[in-house]
Amino acid sequence: ASASNAGADDDRLAVDRARFLAEADAVTDRAGLDALRVSWLGRKKGRIKDLMGQMKSVPADARRAYGQAVNALKQTVDARLAELTEAFESRASAARAAEARIDLTLPGRPPALGGLHPVTRVTRTIESIFASLGYSVAEGPEVEDDVRNFEKLNIPADHPARDDQDTFFLDGDYGARGLLLRTHTSPVQVRTMLARNGGQLPIRVICPGRVYRNDNDLRHSPMFHQVECLAIAEGLTVGDLKGTLEAFLQALFTPDTQIRLRPSFFPFTEPSAEVDITCPFCGGSGTVTAADGSEMPCPVCSGTGWIEILGCGMVDPRVLDACGIDPAVYSGFAFGLGLDRVAMIRYDIPNIRMLFDNDERLLRQVQD
Ligand code: PHE
Repeated sequence: ASASNAGADDDRLAVDRARFLAEADAVTDRAGLDALRVSWLGRKKGRIKDLMGQMKSVPADARRAYGQAVNALKQTVDARLAELTEAFESRASAARAAEARIDLTLPGRPPALGGLHPVTRVTRTIESIFASLGYSVAEGPEVEDDVRNFEKLNIPADHPARDDQDTFFLDGDYGARGLLLRTHTSPVQVRTMLARNGGQLPIRVICPGRVYRNDNDLRHSPMFHQVECLAIAEGLTVGDLKGTLEAFLQALFTPDTQIRLRPSFFPFTEPSAEVDITCPFCGGSGTVTAADGSEMPCPVCSGTGWIEILGCGMVDPRVLDACGIDPAVYSGFAFGLGLDRVAMIRYDIPNIRMLFDNDERLLRQVQD
């Protein structure tokens, strides 16, 4: 009898087990899971508690088996509830991760790129042209002394050329030591020559940098930029100077740019010349077509077809001598040009001050 009783209990628990597993399979969310837990494990009305309570009505010899069967059912319930809890948790965390996901297909926010200053662009262009001709770049200080800015360049103390350059001298003790803001980049050629101690020739350098003159109008700023070119070797001639100028200016402006040399004077070169190029705006014709179709004088060259671009010459033997280079053996040429002026021509900037106002609209507008 006890065996059959036990069998009846087992069958009843098998029904419970099947019902629990079916209910567990039907759970779709957390609330359903909580309800399932309460209905099976609840301390007051849970089914397991209920089954335990029925122990009293089980015959004494079958109680042990019955208790084990209820325990086995409880373990099934525990295990399945734990499994479902775990499943819901990982589903929730996957959902959270999906929400926090970065959408790599969204277009990025473009960084605001700065533009290079027109003077920087022109400087770099000139540096790369001369690099391709075998030149290197030399630099010097903007606070210079009288000796390198003037004397070694064959401009003695009483020379009228000093007046042309509207020099800013430094006050006080500095002034007594002959310090000034360099008025041109030519003192860098002095430094370059002196540094060679009479040897290590030939020299092929360009010297770009800021220079200062007490001058201020639409085309002049008290601070502006020059680049100086210096070549020294045995047997250099005006032909070498002219060929270098042509190659340089055609690379800087247009390949069909023509140059002309007009005799001029600089204390540090002999002979000296001003160099004009055919106007890059009107191609040297001197006229441009106005908006109404009529021909008018080119505003850049004032109708002449030419614009003055630089000063040059063969390095004066006195300068070579003062810088420790034997003029009986070596000769050289030099030229200097204003970078701001080149930038104004190249980027059609009407007023030199626009280059130094730091208005970023200018930088955005200027493109090569
Ligand atoms: N240093 C001259 C100036 O500032 C330019 C120049 C350089 C002329 C080299 C001739 C040779 O005006």
